[in-house]
Amino acid sequence: MMSGKHPVSLALGALSEILEREKLRGKTHLAMREETAKTLNEMPMSFMMASQKARIQTVPAAAPASATAKLPGKDAESPAPADGTSPVPERTEAWARKELNAIFKEVKSCEVCRSLGTLRETVVFATGNPMADLMFIGEAPGAEEEKERKPFVGPAGQKLTRIIKAMGLSREEVYISNIVKFRPKKGDGRFQGTSNRKPDPTEIEACIRFLRREIAVVAPKIIVALGATAAEGLLQRGGPISSLREQTHEFAGVPVVVTYHPSFLLRQESEPDAEKARASKRKVWEDMLKVMEQLGMPVSEKQRGFFSK
Ligand code: URA
Repeated sequence: MMSGKHPVSLALGALSEILEREKLRGKTHLAMREETAKTLNEMPMSFMMASQKARIQTVPAAAPASATAKLPGKDAESPAPADGTSPVPERTEAWARKELNAIFKEVKSCEVCRSLGTLRETVVFATGNPMADLMFIGEAPGAEEEKERKPFVGPAGQKLTRIIKAMGLSREEVYISNIVKFRPKKGDGRFQGTSNRKPDPTEIEACIRFLRREIAVVAPKIIVALGATAAEGLLQRGGPISSLREQTHEFAGVPVVVTYHPSFLLRQESEPDAEKARASKRKVWEDMLKVMEQLGMPVSEKQRGFFSK
């Protein structure tokens, strides 16, 4: 094979280029059976999951306990397949960084994103552990994030950092990203100052494929969607957070927990009704306890009691 990439990756890349060209030519619709659209949508993830499964099954029965106890698909060896196809790359941190770097470069040259004219220039990609079990997803960067070229570093980001710390984790241990990789423009963006806006559905559509690929690379055990825009972009499902957070969701086989955006908590904190703000914080915290339980993390009595009185 000419390139080191798996043939399925190459085919998906080629298909994605064709579709983007069609879009740039002004095509807004493509006739496709619902089943085909679903298969294509889930392809990168199901490809990744299938290759992980193959690797997990090949861990020898007599492997030392430390090897079998490793996270599924994250560290297992990958032998050359017997059918003569190229070996699936071993999932190491170096591999994940390289893949994420490749996605970052594609975001930088995303013609579809530029052609919208509604997104600013600077790419704000992602931060954290490229093989994290826990992934947080927000909507789009704001002014502070654009300045530092990192997601969630402004006031909402500081709130998120406190939530992560309360879970007994650090920002370096989790993966933090956004659906949209550029700060949305207000007007023509020239006199925008520090004001921000939510991304619209077209902007989400232009960027979601990058996030889909990040998820396939990082392969988290659980995703937290922060706020309605992230939830809608990821799950294609609208509605108030109050009801979304009560339901169970999945994105390409990965469980998704929907919770309030940290800036919603900040807004409530600045309002006079302290009880309301506390109740919202408790709800977010209950969602995080659920996440910790699903990840098999220990939860102390102190942690269980946060914001309950
Ligand atoms: N809000 C988001 O959704 N993402 C960021 O990166 C910052 C604020």
